[in-house]
Formats: sequence, C-alpha cells, structure tokens
Amino acid sequence: MSPPRGTVLSNVNTRQKPSPNGLFLLHDYMDKFVIRGGKPLKGRIEISGAKNSALPCLAATLLTPETVTLHNVPYVKDLITQRRLLEDLGATVLTPELRTHKVTAKNIQTYEAPYELVKTMRASVLALGPLLSRFGKAKVSLPGGCAIGTRPIDLHLKAFEKLGAEVSLESGDVVATAPKGRLVGADVQFEKVTVTGTENVMMAAVLAAGKTTIRNAAREPEIEDLADLLIKMGARLTGAGTDTIEIEGVEGLGGAEHSIIPDRIETGTFIVAAAITGGELEVSKCEPEHIAAVIEQLERVGVEIEQLDESTLKVRQGGDGLKASDVTTEPHPLFPTDMQAQYMALMTQAEGTSTITETIFENRFMHASELIRMGADIAISGNQAVVRGPSKLTGARVIASDLRASASLVLAGLCASGETTIDRVYHIDRGYETIVRKFKSVGADIERLTEHGAGGRET
Ligand code: EPU
Repeated sequence: MSPPRGTVLSNVNTRQKPSPNGLFLLHDYMDKFVIRGGKPLKGRIEISGAKNSALPCLAATLLTPETVTLHNVPYVKDLITQRRLLEDLGATVLTPELRTHKVTAKNIQTYEAPYELVKTMRASVLALGPLLSRFGKAKVSLPGGCAIGTRPIDLHLKAFEKLGAEVSLESGDVVATAPKGRLVGADVQFEKVTVTGTENVMMAAVLAAGKTTIRNAAREPEIEDLADLLIKMGARLTGAGTDTIEIEGVEGLGGAEHSIIPDRIETGTFIVAAAITGGELEVSKCEPEHIAAVIEQLERVGVEIEQLDESTLKVRQGGDGLKASDVTTEPHPLFPTDMQAQYMALMTQAEGTSTITETIFENRFMHASELIRMGADIAISGNQAVVRGPSKLTGARVIASDLRASASLVLAGLCASGETTIDRVYHIDRGYETIVRKFKSVGADIERLTEHGAGGRET
C-alpha cells in the first residue's frame, strides 16, 4: 500500500489515471457519483484523520527549520494542495508512508501563497501566521467568497495588526510585515469566533516577543490538536479548548512528531448514513467526545448510538423510526455547521417538522434545492430551513455545490429509490478520504464515473 520512501504525492498530475492500487488517483473535475439507493449499510468503517486539523498542523511546520512528522494526515485533495503550498515555499515534504508527512521547512525561499493556490483552497491563508511569525513577512492572496458565504479574513488581519504587523492589500494580495522583524505579544479579542483566525493567531504568537492572550477563541477540537503540536514543538501555550488561550512567545521552535485527531465530521456523516439507510454501522477510530453535540441531537431524533469502546460507536436507526427535531448551528461545543447539510438530509426522513437554523455561514443551504429535486419538502427563509417529513426520496441528477452539501446529497442518494447522479464531486474529494471505497465496503451501491462515463473508478 505504501508509496516508495520519499514519494512526493503532490507532484502527481491531478488528471493522471489511477495507479494499480487505486489509492493514489486524483480525481477528474468532471467525475460523477452514481448511487442506486435503498440498501441498508452494514459493517465497519474506519474514520480518517481530520482535514481541518491536518491543514493548520501542516502550516505549523513552517514555524521551524527542523523536521516535523505528521501521522494520520488524510489523503484528500485539500491536503495535497496544502502540501504543494509548503513545497512552493521551499519546504521539503516526504511521505515515507501514505498518511505520514515529514516536513522540513529549512530553506524557505519565498514568503508568498499565490492566487492560483488560494483560489482553490481558502485554508492557504493559514500560511500567513507562521510566515509572519518566523520570517517577519508574508504575502497571501486574499481569498474571495465561496459557495457557502463571503468568508472574509478581516479578523485574522486585525489580530496580526494587534501583534504589531503592518498589513496592506496590494493588487489582491495581503502583504503583512513585522516592522522590527518580530511580532510582539498582545491582547487579541475576537469579535466573532473564528476557527482559522484563532489558529492563525496562535501560530503568529508562538514566536512573538512576550505574551499574547486570545479571547473569544474558537474551542474546536482542531484548535486543541494544533496546540498539542505547537507545544510538542516547544511553544509555551495554555488554554486551548477554552475561550482564552495564553501564549508566551519563544525564540525558536524545534521538530516534533504528531498524529492528527480523527475527523469528527466524517464520523458524524457515517452515523447519519447508518441511520438514513436503516442499516447498522460500527464507526471505528473516531473520537466520540468531539461530536458530543451531534450524538446528542441524533439520539434525540431516534438514532441509536452505543459506544463499544473509547473509539468505536455502533449506530442504527431506533425501532420507532426518526422524529423531527430543530437544530441551530453554533461554534463548538454546540452543533457544527459542517454537519448541517447531512442533518437536513436525515430530517427529510423524520416524522414531523424540523427547523434548521444556520448561524455561521450566510449561504449554506445550497443542498436544499437539490434535495427538493429528489422529493424533499423544504422551505428556506433567510437562515432557516423548514423540513417536513418524511418524504419518499427518488433518485435524480443533482449538483454538489460544496463539500458538506455533497455529503448530504450522497446520504440522500443512499436512501432514495432509483438512481441518483451527483455532478461536481470534486467538492467531496477535498475532504472525504476514499469515500466511494468506504461506502462500498459497507454495502452501498455507489460508483465514480469519469468524464466519459466509462469505467467506474474507485477512490
Ligand atoms: N469571519 C469573519 N471574519 C474573519 C473570519 C471569519 O467575518 O476574519 C466569519 C465567517 O465569515 C463566518 C464565521 O466568522 O461567518 C466563522 O468562520 P470561521 O473563521 O470560523 O471559519 P473558517 O475558519 O474559515 C473553519 C473550517 C470550516 C468550518 C468553519 C466553522 C477549516 C479549514 N475550515 O472555517 O470547514 O465550516 O471553520 O466551523 O478549518 C468544511 O470543512 O467543510 C468547512 C467549511
């Protein structure tokens, strides 16, 4: 399974055809999924490493000239992009095993994340904090809006200014410099909880002179994972996981070895998959504590979730079927926006009316119109979606608009009668590792079709 020592996966042409083991292929932009629904899923699924943790942890490798080894990095497109960014900056990235990245950012030659990369992945802005912190300069193309909202990074930039950086916008690029070459610790109060904003400031502050306090910090498990890595690298940081993080800047950071936490959103997605298909899944290698709010909500609507051991859940739909229940998305530890689309798919199968309120992103209901095409009864008004169920879903041609919307459509397709074709599945490839393979392994009838419609391709 493992590529040869030192294989640089990101150098693979993104349009190349699959290698014989099927795992190394990268996906054609025109790929589609074809799902023949109605089969209860049964078996065991292993959860991959968290995309949203691996992204900042890879960025953090820029903070030291020494080697940082990251294990359990999911093999998804966003991580390939992040890796390419590190290499473009001059870092060496080796992959002794498929999900292990050894990064040495010793000979950084440029301090710039270009538009070509940032436009494909907003998380490239995570390079700003570490570059500014270690080198006192960084230039990153300002990300535009995306399918789910305008998503500004003004709060990141204001916080950098608080740490003494001069920040300007030049021809669409954010240019940030630390006037005396080093940032200075400060009190940063976020007006709004921001996940990558908190991560960027943590990485900026670890090498700043003096103490930084981040207030109204995000509390997501990914923040704690990044903090664990930074501490292993020598950072003096406390409070990650609470809303106040304190950092005492140090002169330099060293190498470290770290394993990325399990992906809580992938975990939640498979729990919903078991419930929506009336099947029974063991979801292993997960961290149930990280999705306590999701588990609680899913139990409320009638999903039976039993914890078999510290990292395995057994999931099935309860005997009384699914009942509607309202949900509101909020920052961690409450119900995550990244599970909203999947929950909406589930509510189409629940008895009664559920109101889903999205408070994090202003345009994150793109999946609703596709679910309606499959027979769902959903009315959108502002940031609320009212779902009346249960509806009998039937297969249709639908379009994936973003990562979690795609997951929602896959879930709907798995419980619909007939055939569902999902276009633009490149969105799902950004964040779900080998999703076709995983679903097939538990009995789903799902295929990836290439551009020409020939030959289903496994991922
Ligand atoms: N916001 C601002 N200004 C800022 C930063 C954020 O107004 O400077 C606003 C955003 O527009 C949004 C809210 O604050 O309305 C929260 O955004 P946040 O910054 O927390 O989001 P993010 O860091 O860009 C991360 C995840 C998202 C996830 C959100 C919320 C990564 C790489 N991305 O985004 O993940 O939805 O937090 O939990 O960690 C996904 O995986 O599908 C995904 C979109």
